[in-house]
Amino acid sequence: MLVHRAYVQEADLEAWPFTVPAVTDLAEQGLAFTKPITFLVGENGSGKSTVAEALAEAFGLDSYGGKAGTKYASTREKSQLGEMLKLKTSVNGHRMMSGPRKARRGFFLRAETAMNLLSSLSGVPGYWEGSTDEMSHGEGFLTALDAMFTGPGFYVLDEPESALSFTSSLRLVELFTRLGRSGAQVVCATHSPILASTPGATILEFGANGISNVAWEDLLIVDHWRRYLNDPQTYLRHLLD
Ligand SMILES: Nc1ncnc2c1ncn2[C@@H]1O[C@H](COP(=O)(O)OP(=O)(O)OP(=O)(O)O)[C@@H](O)[C@H]1O
Ligand SMILES: [Mg+2]
Repeated sequence: MLVHRAYVQEADLEAWPFTVPAVTDLAEQGLAFTKPITFLVGENGSGKSTVAEALAEAFGLDSYGGKAGTKYASTREKSQLGEMLKLKTSVNGHRMMSGPRKARRGFFLRAETAMNLLSSLSGVPGYWEGSTDEMSHGEGFLTALDAMFTGPGFYVLDEPESALSFTSSLRLVELFTRLGRSGAQVVCATHSPILASTPGATILEFGANGISNVAWEDLLIVDHWRRYLNDPQTYLRHLLD
C-alpha cells in the first residue's frame, strides 16, 4: 500500500465540491484505503471523478493523463479538491510523493483524454511497442495500459471501461489483479460491474448519503444489470410507454 488515507483539514461545506455528499463525507470522515485495489462506484454526478482527480493530484501524478515524471506530464492547475486533499502514506508512498517527479510511479488516466493520449504517445520510446493507431480502440487501449502499468506505483483511472468489450474488461480485471499483487495501488472510478468484481477489491459506493463500503453483490449497478439482463422489458416499458 502506498496511500492509507485521504483527508482534508479545513473544508467550506457550503461550497462546491464539499456540497457533493461523497465529498462532504470525505471532508468529515476522511477516506481510508485498506486494500491495494479500490473502486469508486456511483451514479453520474456522485463525485467519483472529483475524488479520483484530487487523489491523483495530491500524490503528484500527472493530472492530464500519461506517465508521471516525464515531459508529457501536463502543467494543468490542480482542482479545488486536489489543492486541499492530504494523504497519509506508507514509507514507500512518502518516498515517491516527496522525491523527484521521476521517482513517482503511476499515472492518472482521465476518462475523456485516454484515447488522445494513446495516439500521441504510441511509438515514443519508453512507452510501448508498435503503433496503437493500427489497433482497434479497445486493443490499443489494453496494450497501452499493460505497458504503462510498470511496477509498484499509484494508478488512478477514471472509467477505463469505455473502450472495452466484455472480454477485454475481464483482461483489465486480470491486469488489476496482477498490479495489486505486485505492491501497486489502484483507485478506479467505474460504472462497470465487471471491473468492480476484481477479487479482493474494496468497493466504495458514492451516493446521496456519502460514501459506503459495499459488497459487490449489494451494489446498485449490479442489481440493475441483473434485473435488466433478466428482462429488459420491465425497464423499457416504464421508459417508452
Ligand atoms: N469544476 C466544477 N465546478 C462546479 N461543479 C462541478 C465541477 N466539476 C464537476 N462539478 C459537479 O460536481 C458533481 C460531481 O461531478 P463528478 O464529475 O465528480 O461526478 P462523477 O461521479 O464522476 O459522474 P460521472 O459518472 O458522470 O462521471 C456533479 O454534480 C458535477 O456537475
Ligand atoms: Mg466521472
